[in-house]
Amino acid sequence: MHSLLIRVMTTFFFTTVIVIVGLMLVVNYQVSENFNSYLYMSGMHGMMMNHGNMASMMGAPEKQFFMSLKQSLLLAAGAMLFIVAGISYYLARNIATPVIDLNQAVNAVAEGNLDVAVAVERQDEVGQLAIAFNTMTTKLKSNTLLRQRFLAGVAHELRTPLTILKANLEGIADGVIIPDAEQMNSLTEEVDRLTKMVGELRNLSLLEVGQLQPEIAPMDIKQLVTQVVLKSKPLANAKNINLHSETDERLPLILADGNMVNQMMYNLILNSIKYTPSSGQITIVATTEGSMVKIKVIDTGIGIAVEDLEHVFDYFYRVDPARTKVSGGTGLGLALVKQMALAHGGQVKAESKLGQGSTFTVLLPIHPQ
Ligand SMILES: Nc1ncnc2c1ncn2[C@@H]1O[C@H](COP(=O)(O)OP(=O)(O)OP(=O)(O)O)[C@@H](O)[C@H]1O
Ligand SMILES: [Mg+2]
Repeated sequence: MHSLLIRVMTTFFFTTVIVIVGLMLVVNYQVSENFNSYLYMSGMHGMMMNHGNMASMMGAPEKQFFMSLKQSLLLAAGAMLFIVAGISYYLARNIATPVIDLNQAVNAVAEGNLDVAVAVERQDEVGQLAIAFNTMTTKLKSNTLLRQRFLAGVAHELRTPLTILKANLEGIADGVIIPDAEQMNSLTEEVDRLTKMVGELRNLSLLEVGQLQPEIAPMDIKQLVTQVVLKSKPLANAKNINLHSETDERLPLILADGNMVNQMMYNLILNSIKYTPSSGQITIVATTEGSMVKIKVIDTGIGIAVEDLEHVFDYFYRVDPARTKVSGGTGLGLALVKQMALAHGGQVKAESKLGQGSTFTVLLPIHPQ
């Protein structure tokens, strides 16, 4: 048996035993006293004459009465002890079992088993502890999974450009490849891609642990949106996509890091251009919502399926890896947008309908003037 169960049970049992024995002694004493005083009163006269004591005043029936009283008391005490033992075990089990289960589950987690869950059978603090424990293991499991996926993603993304670079460098060293300008450009592109990815990963990890804080200052979001749209126009025009912005006339200043908001807007707009076929529409809408400015990037592109939508902000997640690889995407753009929005105390949401288009919404805090 578990030591906690034994301790709780013996504590209950002995506490009750002490109370019962105490009660019995009091009852015994009280009955004897009352009986004696009854005998004394009724035999006062005779006693005065005989100068006798109390015991000598008791006849056989009185002694019989006392004997049977003591026997009854002992019998009642025995029966009560028996019942108390049962109740103690039941109560102790009720209190100790969830704690014992939790203890075993915690030990299992400490040994690396994240599949354990404890049964939630009550609503009190112990039940809440069980719920908190189950939530904790679920989070730990999903974090472990994310970390494994992240590491696998980094390894996978690094391997391809490194393999290309190695093969080309070996070819050049062996004289099989004569490095011309085109060759050098393509190798430089691979290095650029690697550099971009490593930089993004660094920023992402720093943002996640709060070590890359946005340099917050009041800024004109309307002006920033106009500039990003202007700079992205040539890319949109090249695909015959109509890119334009519709911002509220009186948009308040926001409190944000200009460089980060710039990058967030670029990532979203470049995605929309990338995933919108020719003759499509991309509209940037900026409005106020409570204490936030809401910036929507709406496109009439290929859209995202429901099952993919919940993952698009994950590291390295690409709906169609083969297709985005051609366009140079690593699947980190939206993860960065999300971490940057969170670092500002804002948020980002995605809505989409497959084949109809997507809307990405960023909320950033207004500057309280
Ligand atoms: N506007 C959009 N329309 C359709 N799909 C999109 C859109 N934006 C993102 N996606 C999907 O979400 C995935 C993740 O986007 P994300 O920006 O993180 O990565 P990426 O564009 O592939 O690469 P990069 O790291 O260069 O941005 C994309 O691969 C694409 O499948
Ligand atoms: Mg992208």
